[in-house]
Amino acid sequence: MKILIIYESMFGNTRDVATAIADGLKPHGIVECVEVGSATDTVPAGIDLLIAGAPTHQFGLSRPSSRKQAQGQLDEPLVSTGRGIREWLETVTFAGTEPLFATFDTTMSSPRFLKYMGRASRQIEKRLKGKGLRPAAPAESFWVTSGNGPLEDGEQERARSWAACLASTVAGEPAISVR
Ligand SMILES: Cc1cc2nc3c(=O)[nH]c(=O)nc-3n(C[C@H](O)[C@H](O)[C@H](O)COP(=O)(O)O)c2cc1C
Repeated sequence: MKILIIYESMFGNTRDVATAIADGLKPHGIVECVEVGSATDTVPAGIDLLIAGAPTHQFGLSRPSSRKQAQGQLDEPLVSTGRGIREWLETVTFAGTEPLFATFDTTMSSPRFLKYMGRASRQIEKRLKGKGLRPAAPAESFWVTSGNGPLEDGEQERARSWAACLASTVAGEPAISVR
């Protein structure tokens, strides 16, 4: 199985989840994990599963203005210094048969109401469905404890397990639930 992971990240939390997802998938296939600024605008032919993830900004995907706000919170350069997943999704095309897809985000776990508001993963899901792709799993969120992180304890392990379940689903094997 060939898997392509595209992620956007300001402070490194979504990157760390993407890396954990890549680790969870490695036993199941060939995995490439790419920061969105370095991603090509065409997903190559032969990709079986596309996974895209981003931090939740203002209940959805980041914009240039929210990325500027994030930069204001950090003295060093952000992880994603160019475009975000929103802009990538506006241009992306598929060279071969469209792959299955899954989406994830990082979102704050408190205040608690944020867990029930809009999230980046759902917006990515909507846009990819709009391009005719089929989801392999529902959009998933991983929790950060505050605006800059860190991730809640155990989230990287949960990301590895989520990825392993996803690989089993795509391969048509019985998946073990992680919840
Ligand atoms: C401008 C801005 C807006 C944000 N809006 C939200 C939000 O609406 N809901 C939420 O749960 N977290 C929000 N956050 C927190 C981000 O979700 C958090 O910074 C992100 O998960 C960290 O991931 P990263 O290190 O990969 O950027 C916001 C953060 C920034 C910088």
